[in-house]
Amino acid sequence: MHGKTWTLCLLLLLGLGLRCQEALPPPCESQIYCYGDLLHQVQMARLFQDDKQFVDMPLSMAPDQVLQSFKELAKAHNSTIPQQQLQEFVEKHFQAVGQELQPWTPGDWKESPQFLQKISDAKLQAWAGQLHQLWKKLGKKMKPEVLSHPEKFSLIYSQQPFIVPGGRFVEFYYWDSYWVMEGLLLSEMPETVKGMLQNFLDLVKTYGHIPNGGRVYYLQRSQPPLLTLMMDRYVTYTNDIAFLRENIGTLDLELNFWAENRSISVSSGGKNYTLNRYYVPYGGPRPESYSKDAELADTLPEGDREALWAELKAGAESGWDFSSRWLSKRSNPSLLSTIHTSKMVPVDLNAFLCQAEALMSNFYSRLGNDSQATKYRNLRAQRLDALKAMLWDEEKGVWFDYDLENAKKNPEFYPSNLTPLWAGCFSDPAVADKALKYLEDSQILNYKYGIPTSLRNTGQQWDFPNAWAPLQDLVIRGLAKSPSLRTQEVAFQLAQNWIRTNFDAYSKKSAMYEKYDISNGGQPGGGGEYEVQEGFGWTNGVVLMLLDRYGDRLTSGAWPALREPHCLAAALLLSLLPW
Ligand SMILES: *[C@@H]1O[C@H](CO)[C@@H](O)[C@H](O)[C@H]1NC(C)=O
Ligand SMILES: *[C@@H]1O[C@H](CO)[C@@H](O)[C@H](O)[C@H]1NC(C)=O
Ligand SMILES: *[C@@H]1O[C@H](CO)[C@@H](O)[C@H](O)[C@H]1NC(C)=O
Ligand SMILES: *[C@@H]1O[C@H](CO)[C@@H](O)[C@H](O)[C@H]1NC(C)=O
Repeated sequence: MHGKTWTLCLLLLLGLGLRCQEALPPPCESQIYCYGDLLHQVQMARLFQDDKQFVDMPLSMAPDQVLQSFKELAKAHNSTIPQQQLQEFVEKHFQAVGQELQPWTPGDWKESPQFLQKISDAKLQAWAGQLHQLWKKLGKKMKPEVLSHPEKFSLIYSQQPFIVPGGRFVEFYYWDSYWVMEGLLLSEMPETVKGMLQNFLDLVKTYGHIPNGGRVYYLQRSQPPLLTLMMDRYVTYTNDIAFLRENIGTLDLELNFWAENRSISVSSGGKNYTLNRYYVPYGGPRPESYSKDAELADTLPEGDREALWAELKAGAESGWDFSSRWLSKRSNPSLLSTIHTSKMVPVDLNAFLCQAEALMSNFYSRLGNDSQATKYRNLRAQRLDALKAMLWDEEKGVWFDYDLENAKKNPEFYPSNLTPLWAGCFSDPAVADKALKYLEDSQILNYKYGIPTSLRNTGQQWDFPNAWAPLQDLVIRGLAKSPSLRTQEVAFQLAQNWIRTNFDAYSKKSAMYEKYDISNGGQPGGGGEYEVQEGFGWTNGVVLMLLDRYGDRLTSGAWPALREPHCLAAALLLSLLPW
């Protein structure tokens, strides 16, 4: 901390009794990777098929030299540099992608984790064994140059090695990592999980929040807040209370970021409620999708463009980039330029935070800090009230996102509507059965290849007909909490559907995907801004979780023809007949 800041803090402490925090650096000022003419010209020239490629390339020399050289080139060409010369410029001043990361075999990887024995179907067991092998392919560590010369890389240095999603995603991602960690713990790899947790905690200490992913151009935004849950899973597995004690303050800091920078007050029935939203107060196109964001903005009046870019970034912060969920219902509901993410109060975000508050209260109790335990217990109680008042829909029996612009709930189907169930953020045990009825009423159980992301086919990747692994988990483990056997059985059936979709695609293509198209017999998904990616961290994690949970019952076999109760009765009768 600088002397001046100290003095200011001291004055504030003495005078006002305020808490003192070191000023955070502004999120990414790089005139190469985040803003500026160089970024603009290179991305708009579309030298690469995927804009992410350029912003992932390390520099071959110091940034000042690159910028100086670009300035001269621009001057020589009267500002607009022709494509050929830009290409040469990039070749000379940048290195190929992927140079800064090395393959890494996790030290705690071992041949036969126990959970494999719980899987009775031989084909599924062999498949789980292969997924367990994939951790070695998805393991990465950073070269020492990233630490000694951070200015030459868009990659943010992490001390500990980690698991990446795969495909174009060669760095870590925040919310993906939660499902990756669940898989790693089944693979008995707590040291790898601890390293990943340590990296996230370091990021909170440096930046005050966890960026969307491990690149400087992701620093302006976060992703769904699952750090506290990650810690809970790790501590439950290892009982490493010392690590919890050491880092509880950092967990607190991350939740403060959501409270201070992402909260919103909503009033209803004469009462004010505080809830959270995704919100990114920075304009400019996303560097990694620059030309697409710039093109989209061209369809709007100039004065509306910065706001559009901020809303796109907030959409990316939600993890659902992009979806009809964030589009304004006032106009054409599939027009991405109507995106207004920050005007929505999302069910899943508030459920994640509600769960984090419950976990923090437990953590602090265990550590013997009653005042902090009480603080978080109260925060959770307030949030439960707010969820009930603003998001719960008694008639439909489920929660909905609240649209601040239209001052009403968004009644569309999204699996995220069930997140409070998954997160344990409810007080009435009957809600699981209400949620089942909601799924039946919305005809969601008719989709035999997986739960769709929505019922709107907009061409966006977080919409119909794509299905995503984490959303299957939200619904399946939510329903499985029901005391009712029937609801639990539906949870199992959904797990069986998803396993079969993943297994069939794997059998044909020998690959796991980030998403699946359920309209087409469970093919790899499509739509959105880039080609479907293989790998794939969270998909593998969710499959391993389901195989662990239901391993004694899941089958790899043909789709069962008999599902309905009356069919089962008929089958029973037939089997009793003397053939
Ligand atoms: C560059 O632009 C200036 C002013 O716009 C113009 O006078 C000059 O001729 C241009 N030079 C070239 C090489 O195009
Ligand atoms: C949160 O908001 C405050 C201003 O209210 C700002 O100073 C701070 O930098 C923000 N934190 C982050 C991590 O964006
Ligand atoms: C709710 O918030 C509004 C705006 O901040 C304020 O004017 C009003 O007094 C508050 N109402 C209550 C009941 O606290
Ligand atoms: C509880 O935690 C708060 C915040 O970290 C701290 O200020 C306080 O001293 C702690 N109390 C105890 C009893 O450890």
